[in-house]
This record gives sequence, structure tokens and C-alpha cells, in this order.
Amino acid sequence: MVHLSSSQLKKLPMPDLAYTPAVARETAPLYEKVRRVMPEIEWAIHAPYVRAINELKKQRNAVILAHNYQTPEIYHGVADVVGDSLYLAKQAALVDADMIVQGGVHFMAETSKLLSPHKMVLIPDSRAGCSLAESITGADVRALRARRPGVPVVAYVNTSADVKAEVDICCTSSNAVSVVESLGAPEVIFLPDRYLAANVAMQTKVRIIPWHGACEVHERFTAAEIREYREAHPGLEIIGHPECPPEVIAECDFSGSTAGMINYVKTKRPKQVLMVTECSMSDNVSAETPDVEFIRPCNFCPHMRRITLPAILNSLVNLTEEVTIEPGLAERARRSVQRMVDLR
Ligand code: 13P
Ligand code: SF4
Repeated sequence: MVHLSSSQLKKLPMPDLAYTPAVARETAPLYEKVRRVMPEIEWAIHAPYVRAINELKKQRNAVILAHNYQTPEIYHGVADVVGDSLYLAKQAALVDADMIVQGGVHFMAETSKLLSPHKMVLIPDSRAGCSLAESITGADVRALRARRPGVPVVAYVNTSADVKAEVDICCTSSNAVSVVESLGAPEVIFLPDRYLAANVAMQTKVRIIPWHGACEVHERFTAAEIREYREAHPGLEIIGHPECPPEVIAECDFSGSTAGMINYVKTKRPKQVLMVTECSMSDNVSAETPDVEFIRPCNFCPHMRRITLPAILNSLVNLTEEVTIEPGLAERARRSVQRMVDLR
């Protein structure tokens, strides 16, 4: 496939965004998907954007890869692929399109670009960062390696390409233990999330040497808060993301990646569930599981929330902001991500 740079592709006119009876009719099947979590008056605001974005995707031969934390109007209204970080990374290489619009944060768009270098990858708001990705630089990894020569380094995908270029292999929350054990080493440097590192350490004999990063969303949950929910709701099932502190995970009935948590709810169908994670995810799953009641502590990710329908529309109209990675750096960073993807 030939790579088309933004200067080669024309900007398009901004579509009409009136909420007309025709727009209401055309988007009605999509509204049905979110009716349980969104009043009609709110859909009237989203619907013109949803219609315009779905039309522009065809004109651009673009796909939207959306993380499970994206809001329901994105997740159910315009996304072509939804999933956790690992699934989105794998799909970036597989989708047949000229362009990827990333419904997610910057490191996810970079990962898509690494695995699909010939596609144009757009991030609707490049300020959509991540406290984990910002906690460490490539220079930090080089310094760690110098202090512990010969110890392999695993990086969570929640890192910049700069960091990925310096490590041996990447992992996500869904494969962290198997990635660590795949190295066959007695000890492994695991960065940047100290809580994920601690949760992994409890599931393996490999000695884990952590970095001090943390997710600003998951580190706010406390064990006391989770116990209070359990006391207030007898029979409640509690499932948590492994970016939470270990004492929070110890209070949970299950822990897994965002996709693992969704799968748990869809297959086990608990009467009442509490998802200890970013709060949009409960809305997205709740829209599809009317028989499950969600108890919601609401911690939201301010970075994920930067991605909105107007920002996605602007991205498709004006081809902004294109993600580019210096080819030499990309080559080294790709190796670490590809090594993870190739792991069975
Ligand atoms: P997942 O890989 O589980 O989707 O997690 C990504 C993330 O950023 C969670 O905060
Ligand atoms: Fe990063 Fe946490 Fe937001 Fe996930 S929820 S993108 S780890 S800040």
C-alpha cells in the first residue's frame, strides 16, 4: 500500500451538523445500542457527528480503532474496532484501510503507527497522554540498563516509542505474566507501572524490578472504598484492572485487562458488578448487558476524554494530527512490540 502524507491528501469541507429528521432516522439503529445509558436529548447532540464521521470514514477509507475506555457515542456510534491495548495493536496491522483514527491516547496511536507504518495514523487530540507513558524516558531506560547489565527489560505498552526502542519486549495487562516468563531470566526490569509490576510479581517466580510510575486513574482506588461497596451491596461481584494497587486487587473477585473484565461480565452475567477502572467502560458494557446492574465508582481518565466526536470529525476533515515516528527509532521500537505480538 502506498503511504499518502497529509500534504498529498486534500482537506474536505466541514459537513453540515444539523439534527434533522433524516439524521435521526439514519442514526436510529445506533441510538438503540446506547439507549440504556444515554437520554434522547443527548443523542440529538451526538447524532449529526456520528452520521458525518461514518460518511467521512468511507470517503477516506479510514477505520476508527477505539479503546474500551472511549465514551459510548464513540464506542458504539463510530468505532470499527473496539478492544484492549493488545487487541487494538494487533488490529492496527490487520485492518484493510489507508488511514487509522485512534480513539485512545497517544501511546496507542504510536503503537498503531509502529505496527502499520504505511497507513496514515491520526490522533484527534495529541494532548491525550498517559501518566504512565509520561513517567519514564528512553534515557531513564538506558540508565537502568547501565545499573543492571544483562537484566532484560519489559515495557508496558503504556510508554512512548522512545522507551519502546530501548527495551527487549513490550507487554500489556493481558499478557504481562507470560511475557515476563517468556524471557527465561531469573529477574526482569518491569516498567513503568509499579502497581502492575507488584501484581505481576505475585503471579510469577521471576524477580520483578519495578519503576515508580503509576496510572493516575487506578492509583486513586483504595481497599477501604472497595470494602465499603462490598458491605453496602451483598452479592456484589468486584472486578479490577491490574493497574490498581495490589491491596485493591486483593479485594477483587477477578482482575484482568479491560477486555478480560468485559468478557467476565458478558460471560458470567453477575446480578451486580463493580468495575474498578475508568468509568466509561461500565457505560459501554452496561449498554449491552441489560440484565446486569453496574455499581459505579467514577474515576475517569482525563486523557481518554480529550477524544470526542468533534475532535474525531475534525481529524477526518483536516487530517490532523498525523502521528509520525523517526524511521530509525520506529525500527527499534517496532521490534519490541512485534516480539510481544508474535508471542503465542
Ligand atoms: P488495557 O490494555 O487493559 O486495555 O489497559 C490500557 C489502559 O490504559 C488501562 O488504563
Ligand atoms: Fe494512562 Fe491510566 Fe489513562 Fe490508562 S487510564 S490511559 S493508564 S492515565
